[in-house]
Amino acid sequence: MTSTLHAPRSRTPVEVDSFRPSAARMYDYYLGGRNHLAADREAADALLDAVPDIAVAAQQNRAFLRRVVEYAVGQGVTQFLDLGSGYTSPGGVPEVACASGAASRVVAVDIDPGVTAQVGSTARATGVSGRVGAIHADLCDAAGVLEHPVTRRLLDFDRPVAILCLAVLHFVPGDLERVLGPLRRAAAPGSLLAFSHAAAGETPSTTERITRLVYDCTLTPLVLRSAETLTDAVGGLDLVEPGIVPVNRWHPAGTDAAAPASGLLGGVARL
Ligand SMILES: C[S@@+](CC[C@H](N)C(=O)[O-])C[C@H]1O[C@@H](n2cnc3c(N)ncnc32)[C@H](O)[C@@H]1O
Repeated sequence: MTSTLHAPRSRTPVEVDSFRPSAARMYDYYLGGRNHLAADREAADALLDAVPDIAVAAQQNRAFLRRVVEYAVGQGVTQFLDLGSGYTSPGGVPEVACASGAASRVVAVDIDPGVTAQVGSTARATGVSGRVGAIHADLCDAAGVLEHPVTRRLLDFDRPVAILCLAVLHFVPGDLERVLGPLRRAAAPGSLLAFSHAAAGETPSTTERITRLVYDCTLTPLVLRSAETLTDAVGGLDLVEPGIVPVNRWHPAGTDAAAPASGLLGGVARL
């Protein structure tokens, strides 16, 4: 039996709680991965029964992630700070970036210690640990992330970096500028800030209420935000066309754009 211990005033758990569902492991379950426990499957199945589109949203988000990484590499940006990285499988940033042909480097940051252990061991097993590092941290602790020895070893902040906040800011309460500001200020001109986020409707729907209720059981409850709030959060930055849109409509490939939007908004800003 394991229990979750918390350092004082920190949201970063130091052990995996196998009895409590985790957003990271639930997401892995939606994607057909292998990194989930009974508590995650129970919570995820309850949500999938009520909101089957959750699995579609996860798949559309991973497809968006792939297109964002490929876009960044196409722009000559090959350094990735992957905040709220999630498990690597299938199709995480390390896999896509390392397959891109560019000499990419990735620092994966996650609040879930199970994630960082798995990302680190996968990097070692696939022979890319010289290019991919994992940090167990809360992304709200920008200084801790930016000054971490792994970040300093792998990323050069004098050159452009792609800061990825994909499907993670909706687990971060409060003002997003407080979180994004220090990261934006640390990045060189030409850097990119990419995000995807669960969108709030004008009035909370039953779907939204059920989704929030399920994630309230995890260590990272869900905070939905409107397109206007997200636009404000990247205020003053140059948004890459087509701006903030449903993730399947951002630089769609193949049949992406034909699919119904899943409730996740995404965009990329140039710093
Ligand atoms: C839905 S997954 C997204 C994974 C990946 N970014 C993607 O888009 O495919 C969200 C991840 O964010 C992590 N997370 C949530 N809050 C976080 C925080 N404050 N700091 C770092 N990671 C966080 C969770 O543990 C989980 O692995």
